[in-house]
Amino acid sequence: MSRVYNFSAGPSCLPEEVLAEAQAELLEYGNTGQSVMEMSHRSSEYEAIIGETERFVRALLGVTDDYRVLFLQGGASTQFAMVPLNLTVRGKAAYIDTGVWSSKAIAEASRYTQADIVASSKDETYRFIPAVPPLADGYDYLHITLNNTIMGTAWHRLPECGNTPLVTDASSCILSEPLDVSRFALIYAGAQKNLAPAGVTLVIIRDDMLARESLGIAPTMLRYKTHADSGSLYNTPPCYAIYIMGKVLKWVERRGGVEGMKRRNGEKAALFYAYLDRSDFYRGTAEKESRSLMNIPFIMREMNAEKADRLNKAFVKEAKAVGLVNLSGHRLVGGMRASLYNAMSIDGVKTLVAFMDGFAKRNG
Ligand SMILES: Cc1ncc(COP(=O)(O)O)c(C=O)c1O
Repeated sequence: MSRVYNFSAGPSCLPEEVLAEAQAELLEYGNTGQSVMEMSHRSSEYEAIIGETERFVRALLGVTDDYRVLFLQGGASTQFAMVPLNLTVRGKAAYIDTGVWSSKAIAEASRYTQADIVASSKDETYRFIPAVPPLADGYDYLHITLNNTIMGTAWHRLPECGNTPLVTDASSCILSEPLDVSRFALIYAGAQKNLAPAGVTLVIIRDDMLARESLGIAPTMLRYKTHADSGSLYNTPPCYAIYIMGKVLKWVERRGGVEGMKRRNGEKAALFYAYLDRSDFYRGTAEKESRSLMNIPFIMREMNAEKADRLNKAFVKEAKAVGLVNLSGHRLVGGMRASLYNAMSIDGVKTLVAFMDGFAKRNG
């Protein structure tokens, strides 16, 4: 068996230890005589699994008792609708537009509420996190995308929003470093980057948000309260993905928790950015002060479009041939992108940098 280094933006690499444990338990979980895939979500065994996964989320992220931890379906994209459907009271929400995923969240919210864009870096190809002017009163919430998977930018200081509840899409950075949950009214994250295989969405919601008057039009399955009242077992949850999430969380804990992840991710990103910054062949596309630890888009420097396109394709093909996969940039941005999520090893990053250096020497 030979495993590749997978730099995909999601679904992405999972820790090998987790995959091996899941493999060992595939036919029989504990002494149950069955796989977790086959188990009733109402069984005591499964209740123990989902309960333990929630306890690990709480312990690792320091989630206090005034928040609920929910395991939902429909991906982060369903949250783009659930947030306005559940949190609208006055009919006006503030959004900061930092890229493709923010724009999608804004478009969806506009179907249910007045979604005001209070800051944006769209005119500057989303290369940075924009400055945020003082927020006016009267907004039901302020929404930000904490890490912009496609643009390779991240919030390093949260915006000031006074008493306005702060909501964030943390899909591509959850658990990559410590997060002060108490600053947020609601955090959501599709799992398929740092948490689990695709199929489950983690939601951390403050109790007072559950008590909000919603628009009264949210389908039962799209109400947070439905899932909060039933411990995420209103209907059949994504059982297997939640089980794997539990294993990933234990893996994070064994590596020093979110502080350990921050050290490891900081080291990987520093190595990669340092190489980009000293290269006269490649350059990163995000501005330095907004750079993401998780997703690093880069292009060939100063080159005509035709040559760059040819070299981008050669780069991705040659990288794949040596076991470095999923390095194409997002179709909207072009170039290349390396996603360095928690499960990517420092060796993977060193191998990629060595490959990039060789490619630059051959083609520069
Ligand atoms: C920041 C962010 N938000 C939302 C999404 C959409 O997630 P999903 O496919 O789970 O709906 C993605 C997917 O990559 C993402 O990176």
